[in-house]
Amino acid sequence: MADLPIIERPLADLGATTAESVASRFADIRVRFDQQSALHATDPESWRAFVLTWTGRKSGVLSLIADNWLKPAPPELKRVVGQELNRLKTHVESALDQRRTEIEAAAEKAALAREQVDLSLPGVERPVGTRHLIRQTYEELQRIFLAIGFSVVEGPEIETPYYNFEALNIPEHHPARDNMDTFYIEGARGGHLLRTHTSPMQIRTMEKQQPPVRIIVPGKVYRRDNPDATHGYMFHQVEGLAVDTDITFADFKGTVEYFVREFLGPQARTRLRPSYFPFTEPSAEVDATCHVCGGSGCRICKFSGWIELFGAGMVNPAVYGFVNYDAEKLSGFAFGMGVDRLAMMKYGISELPLLFQNDVRFLRQFP
Ligand code: PHE
Repeated sequence: MADLPIIERPLADLGATTAESVASRFADIRVRFDQQSALHATDPESWRAFVLTWTGRKSGVLSLIADNWLKPAPPELKRVVGQELNRLKTHVESALDQRRTEIEAAAEKAALAREQVDLSLPGVERPVGTRHLIRQTYEELQRIFLAIGFSVVEGPEIETPYYNFEALNIPEHHPARDNMDTFYIEGARGGHLLRTHTSPMQIRTMEKQQPPVRIIVPGKVYRRDNPDATHGYMFHQVEGLAVDTDITFADFKGTVEYFVREFLGPQARTRLRPSYFPFTEPSAEVDATCHVCGGSGCRICKFSGWIELFGAGMVNPAVYGFVNYDAEKLSGFAFGMGVDRLAMMKYGISELPLLFQNDVRFLRQFP
């Protein structure tokens, strides 16, 4: 690239035999360097090649001059050639140095312009969600029951008829199956269904574990209900089960009353109404005094003063037979709460779908 055939040959061949003619050869080369450096100054690629051409260790111009001019120079010229070479070297190096500084400064300037931050631009807004009311209610229920020694377990939403019905003392053709319009899963071997309640986890827990048992089971359940203001095809439950050698109806009632006071406030009173579930005996609906009117009667409680909260009862001894528990020695109670219902009641929400539309404007009202 330097295009300097003269440096391939010794100075003697070029007729440079005096100090003056040596100096003039060097002057030529210096002019050539200055011309080329102006030519290659703008493009970084060709600049790099240009730097190599002149300063390359093996075949750069400066090295070739040292090899071809300085080394074979006759003793009387050696000093001059050496001095000239040094001057050329200094010139080349300081020119390259200066240019490199300029290139770096320009690059830095360009980068600064590119990366400049405009502090007056509006920021990126990342919408922040909020804890869902169902989640909050779950956590409230957990807090209440963990405080009295229950622990939390979870189970499958896809169940077998055995766990969802049979082992809970609901045999085939039992009318209780009709109340729980069930989603059956087509083509599933052995028959599977979407659990209609969290009660199957009573069975699964007792199969695995010996008494004492004290569990709550949060989870989704599914029923073929026609969707309306208070029904959907999916809702949330919290199951409860306590089994031990000495659990009485008084324990059941006391636990239920404790729960109602914790959940609705100390003024709330509890009422047990006879009910029926195949897996509890006796069974009860747990009612609480209406949280709106305090029991005097209003539109919310249909002027009865009471609001139905959830179903519960003493574990039916028939159930123990399915899990190899000794029905003679053991007793217990169970309950199953609709979390959505409890949340709607406590927070005065009239439409169930609001809980599932996940509109943060709605959810933010319950921080
Ligand atoms: N599993 C019942 C339901 O979903 C509720 C329940 C649970 C009742 C435990 C009694 C005991 O309706």
